[in-house]
Amino acid sequence: MAKYLGKIKTSVFISGRGSNLNNLIKFSKKKSSPIKIVNVISSNKKAKGLNYAKKNKIPFFISSFDNKLKSDKEIIQILKKLKVKLICLAGYMKILSPYFIKKFNNPILNIHPSLLPKYKGLNTHLRALNNKDKFSGATVHLVNSKIDSGKIILQKKVRISKNDSEETLEKKVLNVEYKIYPKAITKFYSSL
Ligand code: GRF
Repeated sequence: MAKYLGKIKTSVFISGRGSNLNNLIKFSKKKSSPIKIVNVISSNKKAKGLNYAKKNKIPFFISSFDNKLKSDKEIIQILKKLKVKLICLAGYMKILSPYFIKKFNNPILNIHPSLLPKYKGLNTHLRALNNKDKFSGATVHLVNSKIDSGKIILQKKVRISKNDSEETLEKKVLNVEYKIYPKAITKFYSSL
């Protein structure tokens, strides 16, 4: 943490429910947390997760993405103004463009509901069940321009039981997500 004086200004990107956002907000309020959430970006004006930003008085921005380059530029401007030094993707359904990643030029973390490199992309729980996997889990990784492919920071397994459905497995994995996202952030900054 020596490189950072004070808390790291962080933006969380969401598209929907926002339960990881809620979890990260709670984490950020702890004294021991290295981050302060200064902004939320949503790709969806109807995202339920926006309520967590409102409730906690965190400024948010809803991007329309009618024009991807224009939206990217708009978001970069906002993050620059707020001196954001970390982005945490949390259920963000848009792919960040190489332009965006290059311009932001700071770490971007993502949480993914599988044991990467297994099951990049969508429907991870269904794919794990269909393949009769014994384990699933969640992964926090750095974001690069390839989908779900950056360096893995932290990963945790859950056992899949015979009676698991997509819903019960999602619940199990989400509980793991809530544990490892804060841990991964702390680990990432203590390794710098
Ligand atoms: C989580 O399972 C996360 O791993 C994935 O999308 C889901 C988002 O859930 N990327 P929420 O919006 O944080 O509740």
